[in-house]
Amino acid sequence: MAAKWTPDSWKSKPIRQMPTYTDSERLAQVEHTLRELPPLVFAGEARRLREDLADVAQGRAFLLQGGDCAESFAEFGANTIRDTFKVLLQMSVVLTYAGASPVVKVGRMAGQFAKPRSADTETQDGIELPSYRGDIVNAIEFEERARVPDPERMVRGYNQAAATLNLLRAFAQGGFADLHKVHQWNLDFVSGSPQGERYEELATRISESLDFMEACGITAESVPQISETNFYTSHEALLLTYEEALVRKDSLTGDWYDCSAHFLWIGERTRDPDGAHVEFLRGVNNPIGVKLGPSADPDELIRLIDILNPANDPGRLTLISRMGHDKVRDALPALVRKVEREGRTVVWSCDPMHGNTVKSDSGYKTRPFDRILDEVRGFFEVHREVGSYAGGVHFEMTGQDVTECLGGAQAISDEDLSARYHTHCDPRLNASQSLELAFLIADSLKEQRAGRRSRLAAAS
Ligand code: PEP
Ligand code: CO
Repeated sequence: MAAKWTPDSWKSKPIRQMPTYTDSERLAQVEHTLRELPPLVFAGEARRLREDLADVAQGRAFLLQGGDCAESFAEFGANTIRDTFKVLLQMSVVLTYAGASPVVKVGRMAGQFAKPRSADTETQDGIELPSYRGDIVNAIEFEERARVPDPERMVRGYNQAAATLNLLRAFAQGGFADLHKVHQWNLDFVSGSPQGERYEELATRISESLDFMEACGITAESVPQISETNFYTSHEALLLTYEEALVRKDSLTGDWYDCSAHFLWIGERTRDPDGAHVEFLRGVNNPIGVKLGPSADPDELIRLIDILNPANDPGRLTLISRMGHDKVRDALPALVRKVEREGRTVVWSCDPMHGNTVKSDSGYKTRPFDRILDEVRGFFEVHREVGSYAGGVHFEMTGQDVTECLGGAQAISDEDLSARYHTHCDPRLNASQSLELAFLIADSLKEQRAGRRSRLAAAS
């Protein structure tokens, strides 16, 4: 029998990556404020995402999850949100059309503020200060005052998430995501590039298909999916003080949900089965994810699955591997085999970003695009070998024309990185690199579908 779960039962477990708030009275006031605020998402939406992810787990759809490494208060604005959303729509159209698979769209948006850090402090010119932990905790400036964790930032994070979510809902349901607008999602600075042109061709084919369908009587009135889409939000459930304050009991089912986002995940550094983050997420009914780095152990993974998804519900758990391009082919197979052998149904997703971070010669934290592609390829290869389903991808990207990851068709070089390096944390793919990646995944996805179809035919 599992011990009783309560929204604050995580407090009795060992915890990593938590800021120390010095003013406990202000902290208590903020927690009270957040508890009184409306939920950001509705439990019914989280349940619908669980159903969508159950389709992914069973090989009937594909998960596309992406957005900022860290959203920031400074870069908050309608254009940034719109452009990231546009690129995710473009990628999803590429995957749906070229990859012939329904796509479940989840943004790393509207709440992705808290960051795990490899060290508690940062030293510059002999001065040591607490690390920056994301805008929801402290400020990025290297100054003593800026680095003090400020509980008020949680309220600001909540408000920014609410406004972002409001715009995303409007975009998804209010006409912006209408497939008739497929040409307009191409961003100006991408349209002249090879991927931009490839996308234009595909958009033209989609428009023609829509005209054909309309002539046959299939219109947005009869099929609402043509004019609107479901778009979900997600972030790492790292700052448990904030997450706990947004837990609500669903009045329809009596179940607990973390209403800060539809989907929440546990990071590589906080997935200890006996730790606070696992304890917290086991009790909320949202669909959840766990990041798995190269040190993940197959037996420990089964233990984790038993804690987080004891009923083996197919949409509940997404395992997001982030091995690194040089390790994925060695480290992933044992985990996938074990999970398959033990009969656990999960979504397997690939984060090709976090295992491929390097320091460039000029000192920038960057990621070579070819290594990102190589990890995605390795991920599909492993699943083909084992006979499991490669169900999704998870990456850090933006709709802005940044120069943070090396390579891609634009051939961003080390010298180019300084031109538009804007991230608050890890380097992101820009719009053009994201689209290039989508085409590659679409090819792998098509191959995977063909392979599965022929295996099914052979078995029947
Ligand atoms: C992240 O997704 O931003 C992150 C920190 O990932 P990981 O926990 O896999 O390192
Ligand atoms: Co990151």
